[in-house]
Amino acid sequence: MQEALQMLAAQAKAAIASADSSAVLEQLRVSYLGKKGELTAILRGLKDLAPEARAQFGALSNQVKQDIEAQIVGKSSALEESKYSKLATTEALDVTKTLPAAKSGHLHPITQTWMLIEDIFNRIGFEVASGPEVEWDKFNFELLNMPKDHPARDTQDTFYVSDEILLRTQTSPVQIRWMQNHQPPVRIIAPGRVFRRDYDLTHTPMFHQFEGLVVDKGITIQDLKGTCIYAMQSLLGSSTKVRFRPHNFPFTEPSLEVDASCNICQGKGCRTCKHQGWLEMAGAGMVHPQVLRNVGYDPEQVSGFAFGFGIDRIAMMRFGISDLRLLFEGDMRFLQQF
Ligand code: DAH
Repeated sequence: MQEALQMLAAQAKAAIASADSSAVLEQLRVSYLGKKGELTAILRGLKDLAPEARAQFGALSNQVKQDIEAQIVGKSSALEESKYSKLATTEALDVTKTLPAAKSGHLHPITQTWMLIEDIFNRIGFEVASGPEVEWDKFNFELLNMPKDHPARDTQDTFYVSDEILLRTQTSPVQIRWMQNHQPPVRIIAPGRVFRRDYDLTHTPMFHQFEGLVVDKGITIQDLKGTCIYAMQSLLGSSTKVRFRPHNFPFTEPSLEVDASCNICQGKGCRTCKHQGWLEMAGAGMVHPQVLRNVGYDPEQVSGFAFGFGIDRIAMMRFGISDLRLLFEGDMRFLQQF
C-alpha cells in the first residue's frame, strides 16, 4: 500500500507539473481528489485496515493528499500568472508610440491655381462669373464679332454639337452673357473649362482659361496693362516681367498678347520657354466698340478692356510641370506630388 501511495504521489506530481491549462489542472484535481478520485478511494479503504496500519497509512495518505492539493494551488497560480504576462506582451498597447501620419487628399493643381486666381482678383474688386460649357454659336462667336465666315474661327478648332450649339472654345462668351444682364461698371473674371480639337505636349482637348472684363467710363489700355502685371506678379512671383505684343482678335481693338518672363530660367532661356526667355500667357485688348454695341452699351459713353489667360499654363509654371497632358490623366503617383 505504501508503494501504491508513493507511485500515486509521483504520478500526480508529474501530471500537475506538465498541465498547460487550468482546464487540464481541474481534470487532474477531480481524478485524484474528487469523490471518485484515486486518492479518495485509498482514503476510503483505510477504515478496513488494522488500527496500527490505519494510523501509519492514514498519516501518509493525508500527507500525499495535502501535497497534491498544494501542488494544484501552486500550479494554478503559476498558470494565471503566465496567462497575464503573455497578455502583456501579445496585447500590449504602446500609447507613447508615434503613428504614421494619416494620409489625406488634396486639391488638384489646376483647382489650387483656379482658387488662387479668384482670390487675387477678389482682392482688387472683381466678381467671379460663369457660363455654360455647352454654348450657343451666337455667344461663343457671333456677338464677339466673329460671324460665321470669319477667318479667325479657323484658329479655334471647334467641337460642334449642332449648327448652332458647340462646346465653348473660349471663356469669352461669358463677357457677352454678363454684359447683357448687367450695366457698367463691370469688373469680372470668368474661370472655366474650354474645348478645342487639339492634342500634344502643350495642348489637350479640354483646358482652362479665365476671362477678365472691365467696362466703365474712361477705362484705358494702362488699366489693362496694370491689371495684367498685378496678376502675373501675384501668380508667378514679384520679380516676373511682363511684356505686351501687338496682335489681332476680332473682339478687341487694339489687341495684345501678354508674355511673362519664364520663371523656370528667370528669362535666361530654357526648354520650357523654347529659349525665348518669355512665355505667352494671354490674349487681351480694348473691347471692340461693335462688341459693346452688340450688348446694348454705348461705346461713346463707356470703354473697357478684356483678357483671356490660360490657367493650365500658369499651373505648369507654378509647379514646374513640362507636359500638360499629365495634369488630366488622373495618375495618383503624379498628382500626389502637389
Ligand atoms: N479668347 C481668346 C482665346 O481664347 C483670348 C482672348 C483674347 C480673350 C483677347 C480676351 C481678349 O478677352 O480680349 O484665344
